[in-house]
Amino acid sequence: MCGIVGYVGPGTMVGEASGRPLDVALEGLGRLEYRGYDSAGVALVAPGVDAVAFAKKSGKLANLVEEIDLHPLPAATASIGHTRWATHGGPTDTNAHPHLADDDRLAVIHNGIVENFATLKSELLAEGVQFRSETDTEVAAQLLARAYRQTKDLTLAMGQVARRLEGTFTLLAVHADAPDTVVGARHDSPLVVGLGEGENFLGSDVAAFISHTKEALELGQDQIVTITPTSVEVTDFDGNPAEAKRYTVDWDAAAAEKGGFSSFMDKEIHDQPHAVADTLLGRTDPSGKLVLDDLRIDEAVLRSVDKIIVVACGTAAYSGHVAKYAIEHWCRIPVEVELAHEFRYRDPIVDEKTLVVAVTQSGETMDTLMAVRHAREQGAKVISIVNTHGSTIPRESDAVLYTHAGPEIAVASTKAFLSQITAAYLLGLYLAQLRGNKFPDEISAILEDLRDMPRKIQTVIERGEYVRATARSMKDATSVLFLGRHVGFPVALEGALKLKELAYIHAEGFAAGELKHGPIALIDEGQPVFVVVPSPKGREGLHSKVISNIQEIRARGARTLVIAEDGDDAVRPYADEIFWVPESPTLLSPLLAVVPLQIFAMALATAKGLDVDQPRNLAKSVTVE
Ligand code: F6R
Repeated sequence: MCGIVGYVGPGTMVGEASGRPLDVALEGLGRLEYRGYDSAGVALVAPGVDAVAFAKKSGKLANLVEEIDLHPLPAATASIGHTRWATHGGPTDTNAHPHLADDDRLAVIHNGIVENFATLKSELLAEGVQFRSETDTEVAAQLLARAYRQTKDLTLAMGQVARRLEGTFTLLAVHADAPDTVVGARHDSPLVVGLGEGENFLGSDVAAFISHTKEALELGQDQIVTITPTSVEVTDFDGNPAEAKRYTVDWDAAAAEKGGFSSFMDKEIHDQPHAVADTLLGRTDPSGKLVLDDLRIDEAVLRSVDKIIVVACGTAAYSGHVAKYAIEHWCRIPVEVELAHEFRYRDPIVDEKTLVVAVTQSGETMDTLMAVRHAREQGAKVISIVNTHGSTIPRESDAVLYTHAGPEIAVASTKAFLSQITAAYLLGLYLAQLRGNKFPDEISAILEDLRDMPRKIQTVIERGEYVRATARSMKDATSVLFLGRHVGFPVALEGALKLKELAYIHAEGFAAGELKHGPIALIDEGQPVFVVVPSPKGREGLHSKVISNIQEIRARGARTLVIAEDGDDAVRPYADEIFWVPESPTLLSPLLAVVPLQIFAMALATAKGLDVDQPRNLAKSVTVE
């Protein structure tokens, strides 16, 4: 939610074009645009210049680029850039970041929400400060200007301001007095440092600078960072030196590019076999025993767990639903799945014997972070399943199991979902191994099946053209329903979510058995209904029950679009369209069944002329509650 980039390095001289500082900022914003695309802006400083140079524009980054082409910016040695997901104040040019203060000598950009902005604004208004925008960020900019006038030190001033702000924030600032410096502060919102040679970078995530350096510093909570071309200094909000963790990013710029695909989403759907394979990689020792090295948590604690609660949001929560079926079956531990924002604000029963599993692609989702904190306060142990290194949630968890999906740029999650499910299977099998619920050869057999899933996912992707053609033929649909039972239920929920968020069509997922308890009233002539049919070789009775459910809706005029396993001839008489997927054990089948639904949503949205990578109103990484 909001993308932030900062740069200092070899700049240009007065009279020259903005050069590298502007190029790095715009390129970084391009890579971060998935975090918000309501407006974009940059600010530049250079030696010997009295005021910050800036440009900002509502709408997507392309509008800002056009604006800069029309009105070029001057020479620069440092830059900050911002792409916005609007919270306080509409998505207008004026509310776009950067926000300026101190006679336009200071510029600030911000990700997050300043919750006490009204109080602070009244204080500043009483002092005669005039505001130009409706944003909470401008309050931070004005406070920083006031603190800078007193301290004449941007780092100290930033610390003073950070101590006064409530809510969540990453702030970056430049000042005309310090043209070789960018100062950042973070509290409950992401900020990473990229370490270069004679230049340094800041970003909401490493994508901002990945084409320039893979060496990064993960800042801790409540830290201030000051970068110059040759130094990086980290302190706490009081100015005391602080530690930040250095790491090397394990993917490169190519992974964050479309690579010839028409959209990031299309690319990421095609990445899925790799995402699953990479998440499985290196998780067994030479004897075939499952080892989760990164899961540094006392085995005795894991053995004593008597309840698991999965907390997550959106698609990640649906991966938790799948995990529930698998973990309960393999480990015989009760598993609850709860939306993180609901978990946090009720009074959940959690104690030292509860294991909370937080699932998150970004590692920054504020609702999930708050649930993690709440769980730990109640004494629970927290394991997070996370895709993004350097993010906040793994740092605040007792242990982390990383998925290896690589960067997910499209706002709608695809490959992260499959890798979250895969990681949850690994966690379930690990617990079963540890607690002796399963014999080693049973675990090996399931792992063998899992290792075969990437090949099968590839097969489903290769069959995608039929799904796309069906989607194109349905571009005028106004409502689509999705049904599934058992692990097919979360798949149905995910299919509906993908269609809603990408194609802006009313879509709902139901447990197939629930239909007759009410929702069947929605069915009339021609109503499209996707049905996820379980394997006929799976749990007894499951397949035949779903076939009965298809008959019930068909009898009422539904058009049935069925996802079925290769060779399941029993579905043929009841299906208007069939999307075949390879055979697989029922518990693993979501990794296949969801793929046609992702392709369907993407193709239908594309047929409607919509932007599948950046659907309206959304942002990736939701860092507000
Ligand atoms: C939907 C989608 C969202 C995210 C949710 C959680 O396609 O991507 O529903 O799954 O916002 O995000 P993370 O996984 O980053 O916590």
